[in-house]
Amino acid sequence: MRAALYRKVGRASEVLSIEEIPTPQPSAGQVRVRITASGVNPTDWKTRSGATGADPDGFQVPHQDGAGVIDAVGAGVGERHVGERVWCYLAAFENRYGTAAQYCVLPPERTVALPAEASDELGASLGVPAVTAAHCLGGDPAALAGTTVLVAGGAGAVGHFAIELAKHAGARVVTTVSSPHKAELARAAGADLVVNYRDDDALDQIRRFCSHVERIVEVAFGANLALDVALSAPGTEIVVYAAEAEDPRVSVRQLMTANVRVHFVLLYRVPPVELAAAVRWVDDAVHLGALTALPVHRYRLEQVAAAQDAVANGALGKVIVLPN
Ligand SMILES: NC(=O)c1ccc[n+]([C@@H]2O[C@H](COP(=O)([O-])OP(=O)(O)OC[C@H]3O[C@@H](n4cnc5c(N)ncnc54)[C@H](OP(=O)(O)O)[C@@H]3O)[C@@H](O)[C@H]2O)c1
Repeated sequence: MRAALYRKVGRASEVLSIEEIPTPQPSAGQVRVRITASGVNPTDWKTRSGATGADPDGFQVPHQDGAGVIDAVGAGVGERHVGERVWCYLAAFENRYGTAAQYCVLPPERTVALPAEASDELGASLGVPAVTAAHCLGGDPAALAGTTVLVAGGAGAVGHFAIELAKHAGARVVTTVSSPHKAELARAAGADLVVNYRDDDALDQIRRFCSHVERIVEVAFGANLALDVALSAPGTEIVVYAAEAEDPRVSVRQLMTANVRVHFVLLYRVPPVELAAAVRWVDDAVHLGALTALPVHRYRLEQVAAAQDAVANGALGKVIVLPN
């Protein structure tokens, strides 16, 4: 098969190559997926660059997310899976066969049926962003109904799905963005109030909409700490899923006085039961037509380095690599 891969971490254009390698056979307890779309996330370029990963053992086909069709199964996996259209998550986690190739192999629980109405691009957008969003929202849609949620960065990949999932669960959603175009995307996702976080009166704009929020899905904890605390009430949960260039200095007294809960999330280490709950929520939402893809930027497999660089440079929308 043709695959994008790297043998050592470094700059995309220097370490990523396109090679013919043996098509992987699914081992016992694995399925093989013929990939139709490979979704690129910040975690993919951070791991490949060495920022969060080390040199792979041998080689690594990158990308955690993808969509495709199961075409073979290993021992112990029911043949009924063959032919099933799926989206994949955590494909490259502790597995050298990520989705930036014509085929990947992975455990069946990391594949989820993709309904006919959902595009390959949507399927390849779900793994890291939507599952993270569902987990940051608490993993239980029933618990969100009637609450107010603040989603920081509502035009980002995680932010987009956090808005859609929260709205579909019956929450009111406030979100922050930094430009009119991003505001449009956040409104299209269903946000009730969209505020430019660079406005001097961002807090006042939100306060006119709600006195406080019950949950905050936070991409920039340090930058938004003052806003988050100002919009918190005792019990508000601030869920932080991204690291900033510099770690923030926090005032324990300020957070203690606000009586907020601060919760940090890394998808790779979410306990299996909670991960399964988040995946189930995303699966249900996809089947109910509640999730949409951000505007898509398509790249051929040969352009994988450019695709990863686009994500590293903050591309607005979803970067997708088409391996087949
Ligand atoms: N912990 C985990 O498991 C996990 C899972 C998924 C993603 N992540 C991390 O989360 C980050 C975002 O991922 P993504 O895929 O959603 O990236 P993305 O699509 O690039 O979105 C990032 C968004 O954050 C917004 N943002 C930046 N600073 C902000 C601020 N001060 N206030 C409000 N919004 C702000 C950006 O909007 P502006 O440019 O308009 O500011 C942008 O829309 C990345 O660092 C990624 O590695 C972590």
